[in-house]
Amino acid sequence: MIKEICQLRSDFPALGQLVSGQPLVYLDHAATSLKPLAVIETIDHFYRHETANVHRGAHYLSDKATQKYEDARTLVKNFINAENNSEIVFTKGTTESINLVAQAYGDEYLNPGDEIILTEMEHHSNIVPWQILAKRKKLTVKWVPVTESGELDLNEFKNILNEKTKIVSVVHCSNVLGTVNNIKAIISAAHNVGAKVLVDAAQSVTFMPIDVQDLNCDFLVFSAHKLYGPFGTGVLFGKSELLNAMPPYQSGGSMITSVSKDESLFLGAPQKFEAGTPNVSGAIALGAAIKYVEKIGLANICAHETELLQYTISELNKINGVRIIGNSSSRVNIVSFVTDGIHGADIGQILDQQGVAIRTGHHCAQPLMNKLKLTGTMRVSLGVYNSREDVDIFIRSLNKAVEMLS
Ligand code: ALA
Repeated sequence: MIKEICQLRSDFPALGQLVSGQPLVYLDHAATSLKPLAVIETIDHFYRHETANVHRGAHYLSDKATQKYEDARTLVKNFINAENNSEIVFTKGTTESINLVAQAYGDEYLNPGDEIILTEMEHHSNIVPWQILAKRKKLTVKWVPVTESGELDLNEFKNILNEKTKIVSVVHCSNVLGTVNNIKAIISAAHNVGAKVLVDAAQSVTFMPIDVQDLNCDFLVFSAHKLYGPFGTGVLFGKSELLNAMPPYQSGGSMITSVSKDESLFLGAPQKFEAGTPNVSGAIALGAAIKYVEKIGLANICAHETELLQYTISELNKINGVRIIGNSSSRVNIVSFVTDGIHGADIGQILDQQGVAIRTGHHCAQPLMNKLKLTGTMRVSLGVYNSREDVDIFIRSLNKAVEMLS
């Protein structure tokens, strides 16, 4: 399996470069994935041959761009098994998708005294929009604790869930701990009290099949750039009845049926939420990224990354003074660790000088860091293009860094 997948490395031109005179070892997939030629060439082709605005022109190129943009929506719809295309809104990314729901749904349907449940392992993008909403509307935010093993305390979740809970917004896979949460159980419990559930699938969508109908989530969000696609494009899935009942988030051209001096009437979802000229090439390139991962197969990607992660963890465990954060058995491609008495940023810098890219810091998850009593961690995150050799080089470099800094 790993051998076959390693042959894909030539699909990623970024891997052909030297960093600090060494071949690049890219272990920062969770921050953004490298981009395969299929995606790069799609963007290049669009700008060379197909540039036109969508949903506007009565000319060949505009029709073609519109067709491709809407085909991309169909690809996304099929990728996450939504019921229909109108449930797929193109956004700038995960962050904008969450802001859209917090503002459009939250402002319309949440009232003073209502409660929102988040978890201690959320990324700031799934915290700050809800805090702002809570302040504006006098809501209470409650938190599902993270256990010693780096998992959600689902008993405590059930304790804080009640009929005042209107939103549960939860990450599918932690960008720090790598834990993959049992979101199906969370969704079902939340629905029992009438709450709506938003799933942040920014990490999980890159390695596991998502079926929004099977999950029965109300909203699900992800970014193209972690899924081997371009920056600046993301997806909001929302159940039709919810999107159609929500007011627009931004307004302007392309989202109206008519505008007069007195009033404007809006199109239905998804156009209602796509005001202005959208990121046409981004959506089309996301379509190319989806085709790319589907060709490899998410099951193969998941198996490859799981095997490589287990290898990384077992090698990390051999280094004196290295402590892995969390030990959930449900991890696929992310591991965080700290080193006794040595700052992660210093290690990161020495690794960088050897061509090894990892992420260090709080990973935009400060409530989790506070819970863990850490200021930050070092994080290795793996993509389909990573190999055992990458891990070996990383471990050798880490050993060297620890030795130098001890
Ligand atoms: N959310 C991204 C990360 O975890 C940027 O690195």
